[in-house]
Amino acid sequence: MKKIIVTGALGQIGTELVRKLRLEYGKENVLATDIREESHDGPFEVLDVLDALKMYEVAKKFGADTMIHLAALLSATAEIKPILAWELNMGGLLNALEVSKELNMQLFNPSSIAVFGPSTPKIDTPQETLQRPTTMYGVNKVAGELLCDYYFGRYGVDARGVRFPGLISPGTPPGGGTTDYAVEIYHKAVNEGSYTSYIAEGTYMDMMYMPDALNAIIDLMEADPAKLTVRNAYNISAMSFDPSEIAAEIKKHIPDFEIKYDVDPVRQSIAESWPNSIDSTQAEIDWGFKPQYDLTTMTIDMLDKIGGNIKTRTTI
Ligand code: SER
Repeated sequence: MKKIIVTGALGQIGTELVRKLRLEYGKENVLATDIREESHDGPFEVLDVLDALKMYEVAKKFGADTMIHLAALLSATAEIKPILAWELNMGGLLNALEVSKELNMQLFNPSSIAVFGPSTPKIDTPQETLQRPTTMYGVNKVAGELLCDYYFGRYGVDARGVRFPGLISPGTPPGGGTTDYAVEIYHKAVNEGSYTSYIAEGTYMDMMYMPDALNAIIDLMEADPAKLTVRNAYNISAMSFDPSEIAAEIKKHIPDFEIKYDVDPVRQSIAESWPNSIDSTQAEIDWGFKPQYDLTTMTIDMLDKIGGNIKTRTTI
């Protein structure tokens, strides 16, 4: 990676990834793009990922050798707007693959734990297993993984990807995901002292703290291609918990914190269709995936970043 174009750069991952890439690769070597313009600190272009010609022209003019394609609609929004989800998630990726083929770029495509469904083994979900998702987002992500395989096999496009779990970060919030509760809970804990969870107690999902997700993207993109045995997307996860476990962790720092439940049937049924914990062994073997944060260390950092003056107890 030398000249990197990022789509969806104003989203939850993009905001922090662009900042990190600019520190590591130089500000002038990272082009942030998004559908809307905001104040920015470095090269920026307004880009609708459905506009293939503009994507091609912007990437060519920048001299990009890598595209990190983050623009997408997440799982809960995709259930409300399934047709838009198909058009944006599939159309955007197809354009990214075509432009990568034409300009000989490396391509990062984020997949998701959403590629799995009720018939997938729920515990230690293997890299290779049944992928019969019941959500539109999951359908998009499975088709996207297959497209990456296809473009790699047919045209030699250097497509790489991971199946992200729920990503937790203190900054730009996620929008329209099922795992978003694990971000909201920290903000509500600090600002209001209680949180009403739309996910039921006992529902486990894979999660990861953003610094580990950013390192995973960079490490995978910098990995020796000869070592990569997977071109659709690698399973990666750092932790798995249910709402009561994250609440208990927060209570160690904010003893009066209270969790309540008001379950949203749509997001609950999405969560129940996903694995409890996926197996990241192949990513560890092929490119050294190794997350640094667990629930305890992530909680300390999240509360510190959001609350500033929250005192962490020394029993941790
Ligand atoms: N975090 C995403 C979502 O909940 C999963 O990829 O939609």
